[in-house]
Formats: sequence, C-alpha cells, structure tokens
Amino acid sequence: MLMTDIIAKKRDKIELDEKEIGFFISGAADGSIPDYQLSALLMAIYLNGMTENETVYMTLHMARSGDMLDLSALGDKTVDKHSTGGVGDKTTLVCAPIAAALGCTVAKMSGRGLGHTGGTVDKFESITGYKTSITTEEFLSTAEKFGLCITGHSKNFTPADSKLYSLRDVTATVESIPLIASSIMSKKIAAGAKNILLDVKYGNGAFMKDAASAEILAGEMIKIGNNLGRNTRALITDMNIPLGRAVGNSVEVKEAVDILNGHGDKRLTELCIALAANMYSLCFKCDIEDAKLKARRVIDDGTAFKKLCQSVSALGGDCDLLTGKRDFPAADGSIDIYAECNGYISDIDSMTVGKASGTAGAGRETADEKIDYSAGIILHKTYGDKVTKGEKIATVMGKRQKISDAALLLESAFSYSGKRPPEKPVVYKMIERI
Ligand code: URA
Repeated sequence: MLMTDIIAKKRDKIELDEKEIGFFISGAADGSIPDYQLSALLMAIYLNGMTENETVYMTLHMARSGDMLDLSALGDKTVDKHSTGGVGDKTTLVCAPIAAALGCTVAKMSGRGLGHTGGTVDKFESITGYKTSITTEEFLSTAEKFGLCITGHSKNFTPADSKLYSLRDVTATVESIPLIASSIMSKKIAAGAKNILLDVKYGNGAFMKDAASAEILAGEMIKIGNNLGRNTRALITDMNIPLGRAVGNSVEVKEAVDILNGHGDKRLTELCIALAANMYSLCFKCDIEDAKLKARRVIDDGTAFKKLCQSVSALGGDCDLLTGKRDFPAADGSIDIYAECNGYISDIDSMTVGKASGTAGAGRETADEKIDYSAGIILHKTYGDKVTKGEKIATVMGKRQKISDAALLLESAFSYSGKRPPEKPVVYKMIERI
C-alpha cells in the first residue's frame, strides 16, 4: 500500500477503507511514515472531513496502536468520564467517588495537563504520596476493592494519537471535528470502560466556543462510542465562567473535598451531581432525577467522601490532607484583588482566569515542565455576586516573582454592571442517541 495513494484518495474526497486507515495509523505509531506525508493527510482530512465509518476505524486503530486495558474482570458497571477541558474543572474528583459510592466501578486513567492549569492527574499528584504510575494489577485490584481508582496513563498509551496530535498542533489541523472526536475517543476505548460519559464544554474557557459546535462534537463522539460497543452519553455544559471558586491544583482538591462534604459552590455542585447521576444511570439504566437524589444522599451520608479517602490511601496518598488534619503546603506568596466599583460581577472571563493561574505557576507550557501545586486562584466572589468598591474578590497564589503578573491578568478578567446579570445554567443539554 502506498501512502501517496491514501493522501490522493482523501484529497479527492473518496472514502478510505479500514485497511488504508489501519496502514497510516500503524505507520504513525511505529514511525515508518514520514511526518510530511502524515501532515498532508491530516490537512486533507481537515479540509474534506471524514465519514462515520472512517472516523470509527480511525478511532479503533488509534486505540489499538498501544496498550488496551481489559476491564472485563470488573463487571459491566465500569464507567469512564471525560471532560473536553475547562478552567477550574475538578469535577472528576467529585463525581467519580459519588459514582463509586453508588455502586459503579470507576477505573480511570487520566492525563496530565498541558496549558494553563493541571489535569486530573496533576491535581491528584498535589496530594503528597499519591502514586499516578502503578501496575495494571494494582490498578485493577484497587478498582475492584473500592470501586474507584484514578491514575496516570501507561507510557505506551495510544501512541498513534500522540504522534498525530503533535503534528496537528504544528500544521493548523487541531480544529477538525472528526480528528478531535477520534483522538478523544481512542483514549476512552483503550481505557476499557463499558460506559462512557462525556462532558463537552462550550464557552470562552473551552475548546468549543459555542453550544452548537459542542453538540456537533458530542454527536460525533457518541456515534463512535456506540459503534464500538460502549454506552456513550454526553452532557453539554457551560464554560463561560470558571467552575467553582478554585483554579489550580491543591486548591482544587480542597474545593472538591468541600463539595463532597456538602458545602461547596452551588453551581459546581449541581454540575458534579449531574455528572455522577449520569454515570450511575448509564450503568444502572435508571431515571436521571432518581439518580440525582441518590447522588445527593451519598454526599449527605459521607459515603462518597469516604470512597475518595479510601482510594487515595490505597494509592499512597496522605488522606490527612483531605480530612483537614494536615494542611497542603502553602504557596510562596499571595496577592488579593479588590472590586473596582460598586455593582454586580457581570462576567469572569474563564480563559483569562486560566491564563492567570498558569502565570502563577499552576500549569505547564511543555510536557516536562514542573507544576507548582500550591499555585492558583481563589474566587471569593463570583458571577452575579453584589460587591462594593474595594471589597476583596479574589486571591492569586504562587511564587513571589510570578504573582504580580498573574494578579494583573486576574484583575482584567472581572467585569461589573449596575444590574444583576442573568443566571447561567451550567448544564445545557444531555445527548445520548444521534
Ligand atoms: N483533546 C484530545 O485528546 N484530542 C484532541 O484532538 C483535542 C482535545
């Protein structure tokens, strides 16, 4: 088979068959196809799109290009959750223990973050001792014992996707729905769960800027998941304002604990309950409102928080940091931000808050950069709150030499109005069948 023939076919809008897709995916994984040919094909896909069959085959072959996890020994209530990424998104730390407390098995491999804030694995790594690199046996036995195990990806996880993603990043081909959908879903398929919940975000702090494009992406991913034998559902959720009150790593873990203890930010709690309830109802096929009630119950009776502590301890993490017996290490310094005028907070630009958090040291620009786990942002006031001029509205924490720049950015994220702004519902829509 010749790569030039495959590129020409895609250039001429002719559907590729499974063998052709398998050929270029294995060539991407083993390095036998040069970058210039892969890049040409990616551009042809970007311009001409992909059919449903092509997208499904591409996902399957990318999933199979590295280690595939077999979770069948854990039964059929295994559930994975994926967020397309947001600012202050610590929802996995909350909805996964809730789902586990309800009887689901959340055996999940998560990624490190690249960009303004850490990923789920970085947040867990801010808990002293927590291991994010464990053997498959340890992963499966922890998931079996507690219904919850969250760790990092193995080294050989979807290598074809890693190769293609790094080329997309430098060839202006990231923003292609079939490429994004197959990239995300290849990792979910390789991770092995029978049920998959997608949190597809839209807004200025998200990959997709509006609800309509988030719905299109969600639809593509649902089709792929269902075609490949996974129960897949998506929530379309708002990412125009930061999620909750904390952005960073250890500050987000603390906020997740607050929510699991029943006293967190209302809007973020609502999102976490919706996610957990959908994870549960995917596994147990029950009514969503009933699932939400059950989710609230395991928060109220403490079983969800206990699940988090058990699985953190099982992976070597210091649970005293979660119970409050010990404090997370404090940041080097902090700067408070004050309201510019009297009125209501009418906007908090998520992307700018994310950038401020990254500037303070909570994120990384390159894969091997070290994160400052204690860096981040606390929003004392949020969207819709009434403030008086000079009132403290936010704090930025991090290394002293970085936080002045971060504080300037954070200040610029706030807008004010004389009128109370309208509520912004956090969950826009649930989609299951396309
Ligand atoms: N996240 C991924 O994993 N892949 C993409 O293509 C975009 C976001």
